[in-house]
Amino acid sequence: MKSLHLFTFLSLLPLAVLSTVLVDYDAARGDAPSVMGHLNIEKAKGDRPKTEDDSLFIRTSVDPAGTPAAHFHRAKGNIRTEYHAMFYETEADKTYYIGYSFSLGVITHNLVLFQWKEFIEQELQRIPLNLEFDDDVLTFNYQAPGVNTKRVRYWGKKLEVGVKYDVGFVIHTGRSSETGWARLYWDGKPVKLEKGGYYVNGTMFQGQTDPKFGAYRGEEVEIDTYVYNVKIGSTWSDVKDVTG
Ligand SMILES: *[C@@H]1O[C@H](CO)[C@@H](O)[C@H](O)[C@H]1NC(C)=O
Repeated sequence: MKSLHLFTFLSLLPLAVLSTVLVDYDAARGDAPSVMGHLNIEKAKGDRPKTEDDSLFIRTSVDPAGTPAAHFHRAKGNIRTEYHAMFYETEADKTYYIGYSFSLGVITHNLVLFQWKEFIEQELQRIPLNLEFDDDVLTFNYQAPGVNTKRVRYWGKKLEVGVKYDVGFVIHTGRSSETGWARLYWDGKPVKLEKGGYYVNGTMFQGQTDPKFGAYRGEEVEIDTYVYNVKIGSTWSDVKDVTG
């Protein structure tokens, strides 16, 4: 009788408030990198091999200090080692909490560490959000819908190689600039943006807009990056252990 009551009570709770961990990669636990999502590798632009080789891979390994990590490696000239997380699974009008911890073996201009990228309606909007280096400053950018829009910087921080950084994103997948927004957390603290306030108010979803983690562009040099955790959930507490 008692358990029946409990069951009835739980079934009445609105589903949205229940926390759900959607992606949970933890290198220290020994997880395979594929826990992050769908492998996405590219040599020269458009050359997308089906399998990894020693010039282009994401492997279970350690960082240079010996800490377990997924090692993302690209020989000079190769353009992409990424995991496309939540592969065609994100939905409009939801709030996603994302934790991402990484360190860098090299820092180079135009290297992109994170993309919030559209996959179906790319003529409407391509990459609403990204983390991209401008020289040695990692910048957080928003790009509005439209073919003639430019990527707009909201924040930047000079980074160093060999340091573990914990990043958090909260992204609300509104389809308009009135309903969509994003926030950034750095080493556990909310980031005050250069334009004032804590919100990037903008369109965050078109047909299918998903997160990508790893290393894209900056192909003029050999790239090594190390990822310790990628976690995505439906509440802040789902990812708090990763965001610092
Ligand atoms: C941005 O979005 C947040 C969250 O919905 C809201 O509280 C804030 O008022 C918005 N800011 C502007 C300038 O519209």
